[in-house]
This record gives sequence, structure tokens and C-alpha cells, in this order.
Amino acid sequence: MKHIVERMQLTDITAAARLHCLAFPDSRSTKLGKPYVRKMFRWFITQQPVLSLVARTDGEISGYVVGAVGGYGRKLFRYAFFEVLLGLLIHPGLWFQSETFLLWRSYLKGLFPQKTSNTAQFGDEPVLVRAALAGIGVDPGQQRQGIGSLLVAAFEKSAKELGVGQLTLSVDKDNASARRLYDRHGWFVDNENKEANTVHYMKVID
Ligand SMILES: CC(C)(COP(=O)(O)OP(=O)(O)OC[C@H]1O[C@@H](n2cnc3c(N)ncnc32)[C@H](O)[C@@H]1OP(=O)(O)O)[C@@H](O)C(=O)NCCC(=O)NCCS
Repeated sequence: MKHIVERMQLTDITAAARLHCLAFPDSRSTKLGKPYVRKMFRWFITQQPVLSLVARTDGEISGYVVGAVGGYGRKLFRYAFFEVLLGLLIHPGLWFQSETFLLWRSYLKGLFPQKTSNTAQFGDEPVLVRAALAGIGVDPGQQRQGIGSLLVAAFEKSAKELGVGQLTLSVDKDNASARRLYDRHGWFVDNENKEANTVHYMKVID
């Protein structure tokens, strides 16, 4: 089977959203529903086109990766505010989840613009532009064929072409397959969020 990785297009949104819901059945974004997930991809494609990629296997989407220079959570939340509300209305169970506190805290923060820094500087070193890998997913029926690895490598290449010097991401601490993928690509853990049970990875690209 032939896998290729290329920029995600607006016409890919429906297929990418379907794949996201399959790859992340229990995630908050999936629970908010397809309208939210489609809007989420629209934001990445229009705002971060260079860091929005899909893998195609024999022409069909088999995976995606999206990322952003600077913060994306709050911007995305404001952009998809209507779809978030719709999701909460359609799935009232979301209001009573165990992580409700974290959820509302992040939603409320999302109402306000965030002062994020896109750069980091260490001593006299040149300024580094930072980007986050916000999400990666491979069709569950096509995992373990190297598609995730192709996506990470292509993402790093695109980021480098954008002038990014430092990549970051957060992943559930227990997500062993994703963590192995990042480890294999030379990412390292620089922080842990015990409250959210996530780890923060970083990679400097040169
Ligand atoms: C994490 C994820 C993106 C990895 O995608 P993937 O396409 O399965 O990744 P790869 O195929 O490149 O690598 C996965 C494994 O397959 C193995 N593999 C790669 N090519 C292979 C091949 N041709 N034959 C058999 N195994 C292969 C790799 O060695 C790796 O093994 P390991 O995990 O034991 O080290 C995928 O599991 C996924 O979508 N998970 C759900 C969503 C998720 O958790 N995303 C990350 C959140 S931050």
C-alpha cells in the first residue's frame, strides 16, 4: 500500500472528522460532536495551513496531524463557540463528567485572549519559534503500518520550513503507543501535569 502525506484541504474536513472520532472515541472533542470536530479542522486548515497534514493511503485519508504556532486552545474555543454550546446541549452528560472542573476552567479561560509567547530564548542563543503538535490520529484499521511515523516526520519538516525551532505537545500519560511514537522521533518529556494526567513533550529541531 502506498502512503503519501500532504497538506490538508477544506475538502478533507468530513473525512478527517470521521477519522478523528474513530481514533479518539472518548475524547472531549469527539463527545462535543461532528459539527465541533469539523469546525476544529476548519480552524487548523485556514489558520495553520502549513501544519495541517493528511496521510492518504491509496487515495483515501488514513491519518492526519495538525499543529499551530503559538497557543491554539483559546483561539479555537472562540472560533467554535457555537459548536461547543451545541455539543453541550446535545450531550448534556458532558456537564456531569468527572473532569467537569477542568473542562469548565479551560472553557472559561477560552473566553479571554491569551498572551502566549511563540518564542523562547536561552541566554544568548537565537530566538526559537515554538509550535505545538495539537493532534495526530491514524485510522484504527490502519495503525501499526508506519503512517503515524510518516506524519510526525512530515510535521517536523513542515515546521522547520516555517522557521520553527522548538516543538511541543501534550499526551495522556497512559497513551503508550503515542508516547513510543514520540520517543522514536527524538522527543523528550520536559514536564508532567499530574492534575490532568498528561505529559508534556518537547523537541528542538535544527
Ligand atoms: C498514536 C498513533 C497516531 C500511532 O500511529 P501508527 O500509524 O500506528 O504509528 P506507527 O505505525 O508509525 O507506529 C506504531 C507501531 O507500529 C509499528 N510499525 C510501524 N510500521 C510497521 C509495519 N509496517 N508493520 C508492523 N508494525 C509497524 C511501529 O514500530 C510501532 O510499534 P511500537 O508502538 O511497538 O513501537 C495511533 O496509534 C493513533 O491514532 N492513536 C489514537 C489517537 C492518539 O492517541 N493520538 C495521539 C494523541 S497525542
